[in-house]
Amino acid sequence: MASTPDTPRHVAIIMDGNGRWATSKGWPRLVGHRKGAERVKEIVRAAPDQGIEWLTIYAFSTENWKRSTEEVLGLMGLFARYIQREAEGLSAEGVRMRFIGNRKRLDPKLQDLMAWIEERTSANTRLNLTVAINYGGRDELVRAARALARKVADGALDPEAVDEAALDRALDTADIPDPDLVIRTSGETRVSNFLLWQAAYAEFEFTPVLWPDFTPEVLAEILSRYGNRERRFGGVVS
Ligand code: FPP
Repeated sequence: MASTPDTPRHVAIIMDGNGRWATSKGWPRLVGHRKGAERVKEIVRAAPDQGIEWLTIYAFSTENWKRSTEEVLGLMGLFARYIQREAEGLSAEGVRMRFIGNRKRLDPKLQDLMAWIEERTSANTRLNLTVAINYGGRDELVRAARALARKVADGALDPEAVDEAALDRALDTADIPDPDLVIRTSGETRVSNFLLWQAAYAEFEFTPVLWPDFTPEVLAEILSRYGNRERRFGGVVS
């Protein structure tokens, strides 16, 4: 199977470089995250016009708890405010918002807001926005394996029925297609535990641009490069 789609349906972004952006200007790291949240709004608004149907963003990893309490609380506050302030706008723009990641460790008030916005935007179809919070690909796979093991132990699942489709359905992304393109900003070229299973056949783009400087124009430029690629999914050129 070979294809040369002009636009990726599903773009996933590792939003990196907020801290460096702020530090380079002599500002606290949280200022970088605040500017990053502004960029999230702009990119969410611009994505459907660029042909994107699914947008997944990495907002907080299972490793990010190692940061200072001030930074962690600051980020959690930003997520809560984004949900509260953007609820109306997201609905007006036809955005359906979902979350992936392990919610149990999050503040119950934030968990409630997350469930509320998921419900409130559930009928929207223009853009599917998925935000990864307390997300790690390995943690997600462990939780999925545990859920399947529980079913096997209960006699509800035959071990032989544990195949790729069954594992896929047990992931946080069960209702979400695999990403076609993963973008990482800030010049780092690591996958950092993001969508490890789902990105098996994704294309990758790395840009030196720091996330607070990532504009819809930068996105458009990256998408134009994607249009020239040929995706073979392990097959040969036909
Ligand atoms: C990585 O930059 C960025 C993060 C860990 C946080 C991402 C969060 C946002 C963009 C803000 C808000 C998001 C939403 C959904 C409202 P870094 O801090 O690791 O940067 P550095 O590598 O330069 O230190």
